[in-house]
Amino acid sequence: MKIGIFGCGGTIGRLLVREVVATEGCELSGGTSRPGGPHIGIDVGEPAGLEPVGLAISDDPRAVMAASDVIIDFSLAPATAQHMLLAAETGIPVVLGTTGFDADDYAAIDRAAADAAIVEAPNTSANLNFLLMLIERIAGVLGDEYDAEVLSMSERRLPFAPSGTAMEVAKTVAAGRGANIDDVLEKVRDGVIGPRPPGTIGIAVVRGGRVSGGQRVIFAGDDEIVEVAYRSTDPAIYAKGAVTAAQWVVGKPPAKYSMRDVFGLA
Ligand SMILES: NC(=O)c1ccc[n+]([C@@H]2O[C@H](COP(=O)([O-])OP(=O)(O)OC[C@H]3O[C@@H](n4cnc5c(N)ncnc54)[C@H](OP(=O)(O)O)[C@@H]3O)[C@@H](O)[C@H]2O)c1
Repeated sequence: MKIGIFGCGGTIGRLLVREVVATEGCELSGGTSRPGGPHIGIDVGEPAGLEPVGLAISDDPRAVMAASDVIIDFSLAPATAQHMLLAAETGIPVVLGTTGFDADDYAAIDRAAADAAIVEAPNTSANLNFLLMLIERIAGVLGDEYDAEVLSMSERRLPFAPSGTAMEVAKTVAAGRGANIDDVLEKVRDGVIGPRPPGTIGIAVVRGGRVSGGQRVIFAGDDEIVEVAYRSTDPAIYAKGAVTAAQWVVGKPPAKYSMRDVFGLA
């Protein structure tokens, strides 16, 4: 299976290159990086610390797509609309690990999913996705009487908030309660805010350090508090999960899929 990587010179992109090369049955078909950036033209193996693989990092996502059975995209959000347009044109499936989308990006993803199989994957860890399944169930059982809060920590580099994972956790709590996240999310609290409105889902964002991060979901009731916690300690797990998703999505009909679909946890 030929796998192309968008954002192959980045932190996760480098790990993806290593993971694809190490995975039986998978072959690197190319990689892209930011047009005009320092990685364009060098060998795809170089940022990953590998021997040359004989493919130059490209600024042409269309060419990489044409050479690939599937794309894994861990670039940056501003590139997403163009990448989704190309997926729709070519029908090549994409595992979309990039996060930090705005409403236009989400619309572009939905449009592409009419013509290509897209795995929208804000967190590719198998265990995080297993916890999402449990969180949805817990949220449904406990209901609105338990105040739901997401405490989310990410490395200091992450330039937007909340993280893609924090939003996925909050959406999952809302889904478990049968609510729409846009109606119940509280992202910022400051000053005289009054009592906590019932049914809301709060996200508190912590930033620091270099290594991935963690999520804690707190369901605070009158008499007891239920917590679910997750912490990643090695970002290589994201590359592993993304390659699993790439292997899974090839041959799937056009639609938007989730990592829970990939792991059979939906
Ligand atoms: N799904 C998950 O489980 C998961 C886990 C971790 C991170 N993420 C997300 O994945 C993305 C990448 O994270 P990261 O930590 O690897 O970030 P990073 O280190 O900043 O890497 C991003 C890479 O994308 C490249 N890039 C920028 N614009 C591009 C374009 N138009 N086409 C192709 N490549 C482009 C950058 O090139 P230059 O180096 O030349 O600037 C950079 O190498 C982020 O959105 C992050 O939030 C997702």
